[in-house]
Amino acid sequence: MTPPTDVARRTGRGRVRRIIFTREQIALRVRELGDEISACYEAREELLVLGLLKGSFMFLADLVRCIHHPVQVDFIVTSSYGSGMVSSGNVQLLYDPEVSLGGRHVILVDDIIDSGRTMASLVPIIQARGPASLELCTFLHKRREGIAHEPRWVGFDAPPEFVVGYGLDYSENFRHLPYVASI
Ligand code: IMP
Ligand code: MG
Repeated sequence: MTPPTDVARRTGRGRVRRIIFTREQIALRVRELGDEISACYEAREELLVLGLLKGSFMFLADLVRCIHHPVQVDFIVTSSYGSGMVSSGNVQLLYDPEVSLGGRHVILVDDIIDSGRTMASLVPIIQARGPASLELCTFLHKRREGIAHEPRWVGFDAPPEFVVGYGLDYSENFRHLPYVASI
């Protein structure tokens, strides 16, 4: 359990409203996801877990430790959200993966799918590099209508609120929280 004093200490500002997913719930779910993903690939296949920075850093770090196959890890950096709470939908690549994606089984990992626009702009960019396969995995999913690319693996459905923690930020704050909270 997470006592209110822990939240106050970690955030220092009293802006967190309620905890939505505890670290225990997250750990259990990430282990399940690792098992599900492992079951979908042969151990000899070249698996590349590609995390969208910065939001996916904590989820990705936990997830790859729960995958039972050899995996490679790389990252993509985009600029899409600015510092506010509304998606601009304009994705720019600021860092490109160093490994070639050709012939690899790529899992693109994001922290949360909201409008789906980030993934909608990224998928064609990744596809153009000729991966053997491309699947999406998101820690949270807001389940809004009209998502162009549904993720194959979802950690949790998110409530229709702005959530932070476990990598997710509000103006670069709260990423470090080991749980997910609404603000
Ligand atoms: P989309 O393009 O609308 O799907 O937005 C996805 C990106 O927006 C995520 O990778 C997050 O960085 C950010 N985002 C969307 N909703 C939230 C939220 O509730 N909390 C924190 N970040 C969010
Ligand atoms: Mg963000």
